[in-house]
Order: sequence, then C-alpha cells, then structure tokens
Amino acid sequence: MLMYSNLSLELKENNTAFFHLEETDSTNLYLKRLAGEGFAQNAVIIADSQVSGKGRCGKSFFSPKGTGLYMSVLLHANCPFCDAVGVTTAVCVAVSEAIEEVCKKRVGIKWVNDLYFENKKVCGILCEAINDYKNGITKSVIIGVGINLSPCAFPDELKDIAGSLNVEKSLYSKLAHCIIRKILLIKFGSIDKSVLEEYRKRSIVLGKYVDYYVSGKKNTAIAIDIDSKGGLVIKNHNGEITTLTSGEITLRLNSTL
Ligand code: BTN
Repeated sequence: MLMYSNLSLELKENNTAFFHLEETDSTNLYLKRLAGEGFAQNAVIIADSQVSGKGRCGKSFFSPKGTGLYMSVLLHANCPFCDAVGVTTAVCVAVSEAIEEVCKKRVGIKWVNDLYFENKKVCGILCEAINDYKNGITKSVIIGVGINLSPCAFPDELKDIAGSLNVEKSLYSKLAHCIIRKILLIKFGSIDKSVLEEYRKRSIVLGKYVDYYVSGKKNTAIAIDIDSKGGLVIKNHNGEITTLTSGEITLRLNSTL
C-alpha cells in the first residue's frame, strides 16, 4: 500500500475507493463482483499479480508478479449504451499518453486497443460494460489495463508477440497514478475530436493490410480510417468500404490482398 499512498489519498478525496492486493484472480473480475454487490462508489484496484488475468475475446492475460502493472477502474456511468462505446478509444489514448509522459516511450495503437512498443505488444486493455438491457442503459464500466513494464520470461506462445517497456521499478506507481488520473477525466458520450486525432496518429494499422474474420472466415482489406465511434474503416479488394466495430485484426506482413 505504501507504494501507492499518494494515489490512495488522492482517490479518497475524489470519493473513489482504492484497493491494492498482492494477488487476485483478475482485477476486472474483482470489480465486477464488487459492482454486483451494489458497491456505489467508483473504485480502482491494482494487483501485483493475477492468476487468471483476462484478455479480449476469451483470451488470458499473462500477469506475473513484479514485472507488470495490472489494474482496473470501476466507473458508474448510467448512460445510454451509445455513450459508453467510445470509452475504449479514450482509454487507449489516455494510457498511451501516460506512458509517454512518465516513461518517455512512445507506443503505437493496434486497433482496437493493444499498445505496441518496438513491434511487440506491451499493453492490453479490456473494457467491460455492466448493462441494464431493459432500459438501454450502461450502468457501469470496468476498465482493465495490463502493462508489461519489465522484461520477463513469457510463455512460448507469447515469446514472439509480447514485449515490455523496460522501465525502472521506481516508475511503476507514478505511471499507475498518471493513468488513473487520466481515466477519471474521461467523459461518457461522443469521443473528443482531439482524442480521435491522437488515436489516428498513433495507429499502427492505418494504411496497412489487415486480416479479419467474419463468421470464422478470413478476409483481407486495407485499413483506411478510424471513424467517429472508434470503428476501423476498411476497404476490400473490390473497393467496398465497411467498418469493423469489434473483433480482432492481424497485420499482414506482405501488402497484397
Ligand atoms: C487484451 O490484451 O486482450 C486485454 C488484456 C487486459 C488485461 C488487463 S490486466 C488488468 C485487468 N484485469 C484483467 O483480468 N484483465 C485486465
């Protein structure tokens, strides 16, 4: 807790609960359980390690002790579904900017919300909504951020794709603080123009050929823009333009359709 005492104080003043655990299953799950019990405050949790870190699309997130930052933020939104859609995009930019400010390293964004440094994924973001489907309301969102900060022994299946920012331990809490400050400033509603501009600037997919899947079938297209809702606009070999709103893409190494 000592490591995060400034952060804890600031959050208290902000009426936001703070938890720091040595280990948990998943910080997102921790906050989901808290929200399920009717916890009314916004909340932040940081864990030194996770035994069941969750990634997007049912994947896991490797979260060993001592080399990464694993944290989640619970925000009570109570807004129409459409106003929560842009949160992922805004978080991506907030985390990228915080990394640059604190660690002096510039990361790129791979749509939707993976951050890359020196061609390796160093950060994953998992935003989950707690919805009231009857009334079309997003009651709360849980924003999970996992960053590989120091080199570690990745399992074989991650060795070629995952990397670390390689930053000093003394910066871990500073970075957490900066990210949380920025996340707490995010407004629900349409995505700010400046956020979209920054997202586009940092995109490592725009202008590149990408593979994506529709009903299990692989397709290839060129990524041409990020739309106002954070969707990826793509053009296929027939010149047809469509927008991907979710799912996963992979960057193609060769540039043919
Ligand atoms: C992804 O890469 O697909 C998203 C990974 C998100 C990982 C973070 S670590 C903190 C929070 N808790 C989790 O279980 N997942 C997120």
